[in-house]
Formats: sequence, C-alpha cells, structure tokens
Amino acid sequence: MNDKKRCIAILSSGGDAPGMNAAIRAAVREGIARGCRMLGVQRGYQGLIDNEVIELELRSVSDTIHRGGTMLYTARCDEFMYPEGQQKALATLKAHGADALIVVGGDGTFRGALDLHRLGVDIVGIPGTIDNDVACSEYTIGYDTSVNTVIEMVDRLRDTAQSHERCSVIEVMGRKCGNIALSSAIATGATAILVPESEFDYERDILDRLAFTRSMGKRHFIIIAAEGIFGERQRFVSSANMASAIEIDTGIPTRTTILGHVQRGGSPTARDRITASEMGFMAAELLATGRGNRILAVRNGKVCDLDIEEALAAERSFDFSLYHMAQELSL
Ligand code: F6P
Repeated sequence: MNDKKRCIAILSSGGDAPGMNAAIRAAVREGIARGCRMLGVQRGYQGLIDNEVIELELRSVSDTIHRGGTMLYTARCDEFMYPEGQQKALATLKAHGADALIVVGGDGTFRGALDLHRLGVDIVGIPGTIDNDVACSEYTIGYDTSVNTVIEMVDRLRDTAQSHERCSVIEVMGRKCGNIALSSAIATGATAILVPESEFDYERDILDRLAFTRSMGKRHFIIIAAEGIFGERQRFVSSANMASAIEIDTGIPTRTTILGHVQRGGSPTARDRITASEMGFMAAELLATGRGNRILAVRNGKVCDLDIEEALAAERSFDFSLYHMAQELSL
C-alpha cells in the first residue's frame, strides 16, 4: 500500500433494514481512524451511476446508531445490471479517487458488487436485510429488529382474536424465505406456520390443524404465513384469499393482516446495533489494510469474512428441525 490516503465509498442497496445506519457509522469512524477518506453514495447503485456522492466525516454519522432506515437512502437499480450502467458506476468511483467500496444489502446487492469487483474495485459486502436470506451468513442485519416488531404486532392481534374467538391470518415479509415467519411463530406460539421452504398442503396444514386444536378446546387461532407461499401459481393468490377459504371451510370467523413495511422500520435492537457495528468496523479495517473482495458473515455466532466468490456460491439452508419443533409446540 502506498502512502496515499485510501478513499473508500459506502452505499446501501435493496430493502432498507434497521441497523444499516450503525454499520455505516462504524465503517466511517474506523475508516477515518485508519487515515482513509470516506465517501457516502446516496440511493445505492443508482446513486453511483448518477454520481450522488457526499463526503463523510466523523460528525456525519453522529446520532444515527439508534435510527432505523439508512441515512444514505437506498433504491433498486435495473440500469446497474447492464455493462453500460456498471461502467458509469466505475467512472464515478474513479472520478472521486475511490478504488474501494463497501456495500450494505442483500444477495442482490452482492451480485452487483461482484460485477464491480470484476472491474477492479475492492469490495466488502455487509449482509443487511430483514429477510435473513443471505446464504453465506447465519444472520443479516435487521432481522432481529424485524422479528421483534412482528412479535409485538402478533401479540396485539392475539388479544382481539381471543376476545372474538376468531382466526387471525398474519402475512409477514421475507420474499422466498420463511425465517421471519418461523422465528415469530415460535416466539408467539402460532397455531400454524406457513413457509415457502415446506410444501403447503391446505387441508393438512390448516384445516386438520384447526380441527384438532379446536377439538382440544382452542377457541382462537394464529396463523403466520410468509408472503412467499402466495401467488398466481400457488394454492392461494393472497392471504385474504386464504382467510376467506378458512372461514368458509371451518365456520371460524377469520381476519387477515398483512404487516407489510412496518417490519422494515423501527430503532434497531441491541443485537442489530452490535452486529452492524462489528461488521462496519471490520469492513473498513479490511479495506484500509488492502484486504478487499470479501463478504462479511456470521458463522457459529461470530462475525467473519469470506471470499466474495465463495460467499456468493453458498447454498441457503432452512432450519427444518426448528420448524418441526414449532409445529409440535403449537398444537
Ligand atoms: O427484501 C426485504 C423486503 O422487505 C422483502 O421482505 C419484501 O418482500 C420486499 O423487501 C419488499 O420490497 P419493496 O420495499 O421494494 O416493496
């Protein structure tokens, strides 16, 4: 490494997640501590293409660790999927003297980062998405906060379902991943858990389960369904469609709640603040010492760094033993 101050850019991409600000803060503070110039790219890869770049100083990230969302904004960017867009992004980095980039986001963000890596940019990826669906990591920033938000919402819904002796269908986020549904269902004692990772059988998973628990004296029912089980080619196109069918088939008054984007907001939990701080710190440390092209991950409960190609080749796993435990406990 020559004596020239390294210039590191940082961006957030994809769905925002509580804790992204804590990661940005730690990366900026450690980068400056190591003598680097830190740049913030606003609005993800679109901002890189459009040259939306700001200087980040120690004070730029003050009073952010507790705030959800991302101070650098985020956006989804189709243009970056094409070589022309990637070349514009590269030109922006070069124009600012940045040859290193920290990206905070999910698997889609990392695939974009790999393209820049292949164009010679030193990359470090930080897994930040509420879905917890980044294959190479046990954990993604934002997940704990999101699950705790869902738990609070489900506990509230249980009060009214119990009072009216109703069935409450609650649709949670996660794209094609059922982790938010699984964790929140265990924590709230849901009667049924529907995840994309397990083949959905309406009669077995819903009708038989409601009939059995009802015969055991249950008078209100909580069904947590991951959004990924619904769609044009699925048994039900929507949670509302499934709720109607349940009411018709069981005679139990049924209501549906799509929690939507409340799952993305809120002040990050301690776990998210600490994990994000560790990852932001490590990202800056790696790039300041010339060790780029890494994806940060949680493995065996510890933050570590993986080769970018190895990380992106990882297969996502789902904890079926936890899923079966949840199914047993909820009867
Ligand atoms: O990837 C995070 C996520 O919240 C998913 O769980 C959800 O399906 C998606 O983003 C929603 O995307 P948008 O915020 O663009 O509507």
